[in-house]
Amino acid sequence: MPVAGDTALHHVAELGVILVAAGRGERLGASEPKAFVELGGASLLTHGIRTVTSLPHPGQLVLVVPDGHAGEALALADELVPEGLLWQVSVVPGGRERHESVRFGLDALHDTIRTVLVHDAARPLTPASVFERVLNRVHQTGEAVVPGVPVADTLKQIDANGTVVSTVDRASLIAVQTPQGFTLEGLAAAHESAQARATVSDVAGAPTDDAEVVQRFGGTVHTVAGDPLAHKVTTQADLVMLEGTLLHAEANGFAPRSGRHSATPQGRAAK
Ligand code: C5P
Repeated sequence: MPVAGDTALHHVAELGVILVAAGRGERLGASEPKAFVELGGASLLTHGIRTVTSLPHPGQLVLVVPDGHAGEALALADELVPEGLLWQVSVVPGGRERHESVRFGLDALHDTIRTVLVHDAARPLTPASVFERVLNRVHQTGEAVVPGVPVADTLKQIDANGTVVSTVDRASLIAVQTPQGFTLEGLAAAHESAQARATVSDVAGAPTDDAEVVQRFGGTVHTVAGDPLAHKVTTQADLVMLEGTLLHAEANGFAPRSGRHSATPQGRAAK
């Protein structure tokens, strides 16, 4: 699936990362889309781009952004990912629902890509180590992989009136994060099937993550350890909490990403 403006050398990139950043983030109540809201002086999108492009692999990073924000995202990519890095960046507009945004991201991947990681821009402090863990497990299994963390709270099932029906055994539950990893072949087939069976997906509700798209397609999904730092920003309280986490990390000389880049000439493409 070539991208307009694509040039030479992308044959080395087998890893595609789709950074979904097209949500409006209404629950955050900000004047701009969530991915452009700042955390510690940098937008959530900036944090995501920095972490992905710190990974020591040649790859294609697809930024899926809200309509009307492609220029801003490209300018950011130009500033953060200078020519000569292992990473090549593409920008595409997103869809109404998350799974549509992912599909548009998949369409923008070069045909050299074999493995794909889908990551929420709304998880700005996800450490590079989680990306590596997911990637390694995808390579080992050839199947879908999600990072997860234990559930800390006691969980109750309730009825329509909010009355407790039962306590759910949390020992067998995890809270699932991103990046989620797949073979491109597996994820693309699952998304195509979901699209073809749109009425079925309507009945089951829109899938809220990519593993769910693969599960509905009958695929196996493995898990690896996630990280509390991969917490998702949904409300102002999440931003305040992650701001504190970032300050604490910086004060203690700890940064979520390695910040290390390798030099291999790559181009940039916009769509
Ligand atoms: O809304 P929620 O926080 O669950 O979104 C998770 C991620 O999916 C966010 O990074 C958001 O920008 C992205 N998203 C998207 N397109 C949509 C909806 C959400 O790219 N239509």
